[in-house]
Amino acid sequence: METATRARASAVIVAAGSGSRLGGREPKAFRRLGARSILARAAAGAASAPGVVRIVVAVPAGLEARAREELRDLPVPTEVVAGGPTRQDSVRLGLEALPEDPPVVVVHDAARCFAAPQLFVRVIDAVAAGAVGAVPVVEVVDTVKRLGDGRVLATLERAELALAQTPQAFDLAALRAAHVRAVAQGRRASDDAALLEADHEVLAVPGDPGNVKVTTPWDLVLAERRAREEGGG
Ligand code: CTP
Ligand code: MG
Repeated sequence: METATRARASAVIVAAGSGSRLGGREPKAFRRLGARSILARAAAGAASAPGVVRIVVAVPAGLEARAREELRDLPVPTEVVAGGPTRQDSVRLGLEALPEDPPVVVVHDAARCFAAPQLFVRVIDAVAAGAVGAVPVVEVVDTVKRLGDGRVLATLERAELALAQTPQAFDLAALRAAHVRAVAQGRRASDDAALLEADHEVLAVPGDPGNVKVTTPWDLVLAERRAREEGGG
């Protein structure tokens, strides 16, 4: 008899950035929203997504012990590694710490600490169903201009554009290969899909406008307010 089994995935959470746009003395992932850090919130969201069987977290070198302490009560096995100088390096280092099974990985920015567990499930399921990658996207609400030399050169066709979020899920072997290739070719990208989408099918799935990234001081103000309203520390 066939039993319905939930698609399984490892998760890589990148939290090794300094948060230069946010400012402050502490790296962004360790800033608190109420009782918990941004990192603790993001990791708890990933850990409560059905199908996520393990988490690897990349943090600034030297803060591994502190991160382990913050994450010690997570309900899935969690490993902390040192990240690298760029987000891409941190993802690659996180991927290196994963076993080959399960063959699906979901990569998430700690800075998107309100991501719903259901969003993890959505991208994991899309990859389990055959896509090499799956990326949550939301519509662009502003008009987008191409600039040059301080002048407006063009107005882009908004209907063709979307904003990419994390969590993004991938075939683990394909993402690893893409990262290795990127190092060899000196390619830099601000998300993981960008390293794969030219050669592989990357699906766009509905994202969530509420899945905001804490980037600026104003984002932190809004995030603190939201954390207070949602409660739960
Ligand atoms: N990140 C990382 N390693 C880096 C840089 C970024 O793991 N060397 C992570 C961040 O911790 C964050 C995610 O990638 O969770 C998205 O990056 P971003 O929001 O740009 O965070 P920071 O790079 O820390 O912020 P800033 O760019 O303002 O310095
Ligand atoms: Mg950054």
